Amino acid sequence: MGKRLEGKIAIVTASTRGIGRAIADAYVDEGAKVWFAVRNLETGKQAVDAAIARGGKADLVYFEADDYPTHTKMVEEVLAKDGRIDILVNNFGGSNPVLDTDFEHANWEEYMKTVERNVATVFNASHAAITKAMIPQKSGSIINIGSVAGVVPDVTQCGYGCAKATILYLTKQIALQCGKYNIRANVLHPGITATEAVRKHLPPAVQEQFLGGCPIHRLAEPTEMASLAVYLGSDESQYTTGQDMRVCGGFDVCSPIYATFGNLKEART
Ligand SMILES: NC(=O)c1ccc[n+]([C@@H]2O[C@H](COP(=O)([O-])OP(=O)(O)OC[C@H]3O[C@@H](n4cnc5c(N)ncnc54)[C@H](OP(=O)(O)O)[C@@H]3O)[C@@H](O)[C@H]2O)c1
Repeated sequence: MGKRLEGKIAIVTASTRGIGRAIADAYVDEGAKVWFAVRNLETGKQAVDAAIARGGKADLVYFEADDYPTHTKMVEEVLAKDGRIDILVNNFGGSNPVLDTDFEHANWEEYMKTVERNVATVFNASHAAITKAMIPQKSGSIINIGSVAGVVPDVTQCGYGCAKATILYLTKQIALQCGKYNIRANVLHPGITATEAVRKHLPPAVQEQFLGGCPIHRLAEPTEMASLAVYLGSDESQYTTGQDMRVCGGFDVCSPIYATFGNLKEART
């Protein structure tokens, strides 16, 4: 089988490490030319150099989530250099669990900051890529990285969950409104994944609680997100749009009661 993304031009935001890096690396290995869209140009260059050393095609573009004009400039720069954009992966996202609390302790300013910060890139970069590249070329795939926290409410991080839910709905709107241009948009919702963000913010005991009702009882690997992202970027998924796709080990199928009872069948007898 040939490479699944041969000839495609892709942008992956926040791709120095974690899920973004895994997706960008997988895209390179499947033959795409990948633009690593990063704020830290030094670590970004290391990622690009490693991709080129493996025989891949990669380049670097500046992207700072908190500097909104860079969302559009990034798209314009790639378009000026490569003349098209086939895939945009809006991977940037997250929140500070100290400031982004449960509803009782939340305040409007912090809540809105979290929501805005997470949704801004998805809106701005997608809008620029769609209007400047994908509509004229009559094709494109937008892949937004959501979270299971956007489909199943969390006990804390009110802003983060609402931001990811907004991203899901925005993606469906894009899919509906831009399908006529052969543009697709899907959301990939990771479950709890072994990245620096998780190591930093979720102590092992909390991770274990999250995994309590999760049928595949372990953290995900970033490469497991990349597998679906390759499919969504490739021509194999030409008929897949507006979808809400979860790579979460079944985290969302299980009532918390199973976590508490363990083997419910035994508990009943
Ligand atoms: N990990 C999980 O369990 C999990 C679960 C559900 C959803 N997600 C979602 O998956 C996506 C990736 O998360 P991750 O866990 O892979 O994160 P991560 O490992 O913490 O990596 C964060 C990435 O974001 C970049 N970044 C941080 N702040 C930035 C800014 N202001 N501007 C530009 N880039 C910035 C970092 O770049 P530097 O190298 O410059 O710091 C790094 O490349 C996010 O949308 C997150 O919400 C993750």
